[in-house]
Amino acid sequence: ELKPNPATGRYRLISGNWKMNLNHLEAIQLVQKLYFGLRDVDYSFSEISIHPPATSIRPLQLLIESDKMRFSLGAQNCFYEPSGAYTGEISASMLSKLNVKYVIVGHSERRRIFGETDEVVAAKVQSVFSEAMTPILCVGETAQERQDGLTDEVITRQVRGAMAELTGELASKIVVAYEPVWAIGTGAVATSDDAASGAQLIRQEINTLFGQGVSNSVRIQYGGSVTPVSAPELLATEGVDGLLVGGASLDAETFARIIRG
Ligand code: G3P
Repeated sequence: ELKPNPATGRYRLISGNWKMNLNHLEAIQLVQKLYFGLRDVDYSFSEISIHPPATSIRPLQLLIESDKMRFSLGAQNCFYEPSGAYTGEISASMLSKLNVKYVIVGHSERRRIFGETDEVVAAKVQSVFSEAMTPILCVGETAQERQDGLTDEVITRQVRGAMAELTGELASKIVVAYEPVWAIGTGAVATSDDAASGAQLIRQEINTLFGQGVSNSVRIQYGGSVTPVSAPELLATEGVDGLLVGGASLDAETFARIIRG
C-alpha cells in the first residue's frame, strides 16, 4: 500500500539512525511506542526504516514481523567480505538473513572515526547489493570543506568513489543521504536551499555516471539535525525524497511527529 510521490514517481523514505544508543529492551519499547503513535495516521506516502545497533536487529525483526508493523528494518553498517577472520565485523549476508532491507554505508562518523575511505565504502555498497539489500550511501562536506569552497568537489568525489563501479541497474536502486557533516548532531540544520543544492549535485554526478534515467530513479535523503519543525520544509524540498534522522528518531513521539509531517 506504499504509494510513490505523484510528482516524482519516487518512494519517500524516512529513516531513523539510532547510532550507538538503546539496548535491545529499550529498542523494543521504542518501536512499540512508535507503532502505537502512528496507528491512526495515514503515512502511505512514506516508507519508514529503523536502524538500531546490531544487537537489536533480531529482537526488532521478531517484533515487526509478529505484529505486522509497517516498518522496514535497517542496519547502520556492515563489512564488505562475506565471512572470514574479521573479528568484530558483521557481513551483509548475516543482515539479509534477518530481513534487513536497508544498510547505511559510509556515514561520516564511520569515515571520520573508523577511517573508512571511498574505496571501502564502494566495497560495502557492492556487498549490500550482492545480498539484495539497498545501501543508504551517506555523503557530505565538513564545515572546513564548506568554508574552503570544496562542497561540490567533496560530494562529487564521494558519489563517484562509491558508485562508479556499479551497473546502471544497481545504481538506480541506491539511496543517497546528503548529510552535511556540520549539520550532524549540532542543531545547525541545513536550509532548504542547502538541501536542494546538495541533492542536485548528487543527482548531477549520477547523471554524468549513468545517465538521466538512473539519476531520476535514485532517492535522495537529507540528514543532519532534522526535527519535527524542520522536517516538513525539508521533505517539500526539490529533489529531496526523504530524511535520515539521528537524535530525533530516539524518541517515539518526536519521530512520529516527523513522519506525520
Ligand atoms: O544519520 C543521521 C545523522 O547523522 C543525523 O544525526 O542527530 O543530527 O539528526 P542528527
